Amino acid sequence: MDRATIARLPKFDLHCHLDGSLRPGTVRELWDALPAQERPAIAGSVDKAVLPRVPCSLEQFLEAFRITVALLQTPEALERVAYELCEDAAQENVVYIEIRFAPLLHLRGGLIPDEVVEAVLAGTQQAEAELPIRAGVILCGMRQEPPERSAEVALLAGRYRDRGVVGFDLAGPEEGFPLSRHAVAIRLAQEAGVHLTLHAGEGCCPEHIAEALDLGAERIGHGVYLYQDPAAERRVREAGIPLEACPTSNLQISGIMRTLSDHPLKRYLDLGIPVTVNTDNRLMSRTSSTDELWRVVEAFNLGPDEVRTILLSSAKASFAPEPVRRELAHQIRAAL
Ligand code: ADE
Ligand code: ZN
Repeated sequence: MDRATIARLPKFDLHCHLDGSLRPGTVRELWDALPAQERPAIAGSVDKAVLPRVPCSLEQFLEAFRITVALLQTPEALERVAYELCEDAAQENVVYIEIRFAPLLHLRGGLIPDEVVEAVLAGTQQAEAELPIRAGVILCGMRQEPPERSAEVALLAGRYRDRGVVGFDLAGPEEGFPLSRHAVAIRLAQEAGVHLTLHAGEGCCPEHIAEALDLGAERIGHGVYLYQDPAAERRVREAGIPLEACPTSNLQISGIMRTLSDHPLKRYLDLGIPVTVNTDNRLMSRTSSTDELWRVVEAFNLGPDEVRTILLSSAKASFAPEPVRRELAHQIRAAL
């Protein structure tokens, strides 16, 4: 398969962070529009400040979000970047995207959490109306924050279920922050009928994956370290839990790969685990959906059958309603 073929295929992005997926030009514009006293302190140019020096730890990588989050404190900025992300994805034939963000990080300009969610939904819904893409939103609690805060996000997700919010997630640093701290939030999300995906085993901590399964995760964010816990790997395979692999980001952050061909996603594919391929952070990882899928195809010399398997896993794993999932699967079968 060549890159042009991958570019043409209907694709999916089930794991992308709104605050990590701004266009570089939009970063500059929002930065220039910010009053000088509201700009976060940086050493050099803003263009460089949002690009982590990779490889690095997850904690170091997350420092770049200090800048982008500071730029996203108005409804206009939130709506704009949500729309632009959908536009960029649609441009490369992404037919379905789930955009995640932590609403409580966007209250510094005086917005309330509901207004933050509504601004992002305004952007995704405008994109859905104008472009050949469907978009769902996943709300994130932050692992390092007090559990009451993630519980608030879970309730918020419940209020916006059926209005574009499809899921709940926990993001942020992993080391030292077990998911079990947020068991109440997770239960609240489940009781509200919101789908659950959890970041686990991204930059460390294979034990977090079993923890995520115990807490009812329907999908695992990254799960790079899964092979280090054979019992959890068996559980994931037997239950058919989809993994949200983000190849470039994983290479930059995981600390266990020299090149992409070291990524354990090929092992997971061969084991029959549903593997999806996603961007994570277009801005910080300087990537796109076409790049991510193409890099995996190149690294492992994948053929059309394996690419079809990955895309069908994405359609099936999406948090869209069943008829939409079926239609998405049909689109893939028609293309491949
Ligand atoms: N927030 C943005 N990117 C993230 C990642 N890769 N892991 C956890 N939280 C994040
Ligand atoms: Zn992530």
